[in-house]
Amino acid sequence: MPQDHIVLVGFMGTGKSTVGKLLSRKLGWEFADTDHVIEETQGKTIPDIFAAHGEAYFRQVESDILRQVLSGKRAVVATGGGAVLSVENRRLMREHGFVAALIADAKTIVNRVGQDRNRPLLQGNTEQKVLKLLDERKHAYDFADVTIDTSLLDSEEVARRILMSRQKWMSRA
Ligand code: S3P
Repeated sequence: MPQDHIVLVGFMGTGKSTVGKLLSRKLGWEFADTDHVIEETQGKTIPDIFAAHGEAYFRQVESDILRQVLSGKRAVVATGGGAVLSVENRRLMREHGFVAALIADAKTIVNRVGQDRNRPLLQGNTEQKVLKLLDERKHAYDFADVTIDTSLLDSEEVARRILMSRQKWMSRA
């Protein structure tokens, strides 16, 4: 059923892709990373899409790809950090599966993303950009079915907690 996905949301550097791959291996499900699907279908890297067409265009493609992935075969879906900014995307995610938000403290995020050239929104002073975006998005991930702080946890433990919460969520009244 298309409603059966596990959807991972969260700020850049919170571990969505790493945990998503691990979960998909554990469950024997497909893994879809919306950023990768965007790059494949556009034939360009994310920084190139931002540079050539701007963020609004990227967000439109991101919404289209999200809808496509969520209507497909059951999968663990890792989304880009800004995919939650659209109300419609948030609605779709909850409608099509169990949504897990990964969070982390600012210091951990800055350490994890480092000087990453693949994240156009963090170019320049990474720490400043992270702090500003974290503030702008402080409630953006609140809609999820579960929230897990990954700052001090390894991927195995994060995956275990997601699966436990999903079990409870599935047996809800
Ligand atoms: C973005 C996060 C990125 C990518 C793009 C924009 C954001 O994905 O979609 O650079 O707005 O937070 P990750 O969260 O996988 O880095």
